[in-house]
Amino acid sequence: MIIRVLGSAAGGGFPQWNCNCLNCDSVRKSEPGFTPRTQSSIAVSSDGVSWILFNASPDILTQLKQAGGRLQPGRNVRDSGIVAVVLMDAQIDHTTGLFMLRESSRPLEIYATSQVREDLSTGNPIFKVLDFYCSVNWHEISTEKAEVLVVPKVNGLEMELIPLKSEAPPYSPNRGNSQTGDNVGVFLKDVKSNKSVFYAPGLCEIESHLVSPMKKADVLLVDGTFWTDSEMIDNGLSKKMAREMGHKPQSGPDGMIEALSEFADARKILIHINNSNPILNENSKERLELNKLNIEVAYDGLEILL
Ligand code: MLT
Ligand code: MN
Ligand code: ZN
Repeated sequence: MIIRVLGSAAGGGFPQWNCNCLNCDSVRKSEPGFTPRTQSSIAVSSDGVSWILFNASPDILTQLKQAGGRLQPGRNVRDSGIVAVVLMDAQIDHTTGLFMLRESSRPLEIYATSQVREDLSTGNPIFKVLDFYCSVNWHEISTEKAEVLVVPKVNGLEMELIPLKSEAPPYSPNRGNSQTGDNVGVFLKDVKSNKSVFYAPGLCEIESHLVSPMKKADVLLVDGTFWTDSEMIDNGLSKKMAREMGHKPQSGPDGMIEALSEFADARKILIHINNSNPILNENSKERLELNKLNIEVAYDGLEILL
């Protein structure tokens, strides 16, 4: 399978439009060691023709342009390689790109939990709005039983969506008290190569049911939003702690670095990096620490072949 990182930044992107933190200022000025990033999304394909989009970022049009013809097989006057969209949650940075796909000549095939569908039909009614355009064909991701799903036309890729702890969006009734189904991760396996990836751009806790799929995975592509729990507060950017926003910070006790040390054999890559995170400075001591531990930082356009 081909995993293409379309966007590696958290909500806001890098630089964020209204942010003058040292990171955003430096990347805006094209200083060495800083690389711009668009908002969180990956695309996965087994044949390079049909692609599943995991999350639809508000930057999707830029991402598709940056990908050249990679997701555009051009078989008809109106066509796309994107055959389905899987939503990991109902957050703005993962869903508002659906509006940009409204010209689709067939209904969008969207895989999401009933909780995500509810938020996208009420608090942020993207599904309702899309009904005036291409409309949505919803496929329910069950949170009751582990199912192996196969997306039609995407041959040889099996996916298992796994509920996990992160956070519901501010417009959800579950905000601050997130429920099973507000967030999922995905274990994706290429049947031919027998290689797999575990993707979770929002991940607050590695609960016991995640250990087995994460141990099996050849690549872990996981939440890299914040370096410390109090990063937003320390930088005067917000009053929220990382964990309150549903993100496990990398450093410190019970941080992502410590958690990832349990998965010695996997290739480890952080994704969904917030613009406040010091690892976005490629010369920072935090980034050098990751380098030493062989933990990579995803960038837009990164392709992983498995
Ligand atoms: C998050 O991951 O915490 C949210 O997506 C942030 C946002 O986009 O506002
Ligand atoms: Mn986000
Ligand atoms: Zn910033």
